[in-house]
Amino acid sequence: MMKMKIGILTGGGDCPGLNGAIKWVTKSALESRHPENRSLTFEVAGIAEGWKGLVEVDPADPKSLKKYIKPLDEEAVRTWDRYGGTNLGTSRTNPFNPQNDRSAKVLDNIKKLKLDALVVIGGEDTLGVAYKLHRLGIKTVGIPKTIDNDLMGTDYSLGFDTAVNVIMEEIDRLRTTAGSHGRIFVVETMGRHAGWLALSGGECSGAYIILIPEHPFNMERICDLLRRRHGREVNYSIIVTAEAAKPEGGSEFVKDQRLDDFGHESLGGIAAFVASEIQKKTGFEARHLILSHLQRGGSPSARDRLMARWFGIAAVDMIVNEDFGRMVSLSRGEITGVPLKEVVNKLNLVDVAKYYDTEKYNGRRTIL
Ligand code: F6P
Repeated sequence: MMKMKIGILTGGGDCPGLNGAIKWVTKSALESRHPENRSLTFEVAGIAEGWKGLVEVDPADPKSLKKYIKPLDEEAVRTWDRYGGTNLGTSRTNPFNPQNDRSAKVLDNIKKLKLDALVVIGGEDTLGVAYKLHRLGIKTVGIPKTIDNDLMGTDYSLGFDTAVNVIMEEIDRLRTTAGSHGRIFVVETMGRHAGWLALSGGECSGAYIILIPEHPFNMERICDLLRRRHGREVNYSIIVTAEAAKPEGGSEFVKDQRLDDFGHESLGGIAAFVASEIQKKTGFEARHLILSHLQRGGSPSARDRLMARWFGIAAVDMIVNEDFGRMVSLSRGEITGVPLKEVVNKLNLVDVAKYYDTEKYNGRRTIL
């Protein structure tokens, strides 16, 4: 019987659901009934700190092996699906960074560690590395994760639902103080260049105004919408803004211009700008709140636990079927797979014509 060693890693920003996916990959790979049905058995090795682990590990050094390679079995991962974050750790290391290309080291380490296949749990950057390795002959399978939900080829990525729930819960909390003081609150969400998080978070929270990067806003229109409402319905308003939302003719607010290994700046600051403009232009008292990493914290929602389970099981099926160079995905409610080629180098952004009301600056769902 053939034995395969699967390496599994999590890369990019952490989020709830990662541990569940690791658990279900491990559990389904090691399930005892499989050897009877399959002509192969598995061993699972967790790789610590994402691609950094495969760059830095020294397979000849037991100390380094202990630090970066974690043997996983059903007992080790039994309770993992309940917990947020990633027990394997993560990093934003890019082995193919043109300024510091360490891809040869990764290829060499994969060989020395005798990894026959890699399960890569990540967003566009991490899966982009998986795709490049696949093209170099490594057997890779991807699992989509990102609270931004901006991956092509899947209707869902791990972490999104928990993050939307955090936004909703924090806004529920905010309403009592906003109402007591009759203030406007501008709440900034993550989401990088995509507005999904702000849109869904804002819609389920009943935000009065939602600002997304896909539709630059007009400050005068925001003030007008607030004036129209003021004193009529309630004495306060909640505005949700995506971190990359921008005024017409303006650009994204950048918190830190240093680029990460994949060339991304750190976004932020738009909520403070919008709140201060509102106060200046309307005289209404306005405050802002940046939800930041709270959106990636806590334990996974029911949906994230379920999706982590389904994606994890499907990833092992793909390995068994030798369906490499692909990512498991959710498409119209079904678990399926898509070529990594169709996932990388592009983002799934909000279709404004379909999902956004450009008059009211809010979500729109109508049967067209
Ligand atoms: O891609 C996930 C994400 O949370 C983005 O929404 C956000 O812009 C970024 O990561 C923040 O990254 P970091 O954790 O490195 O600050």
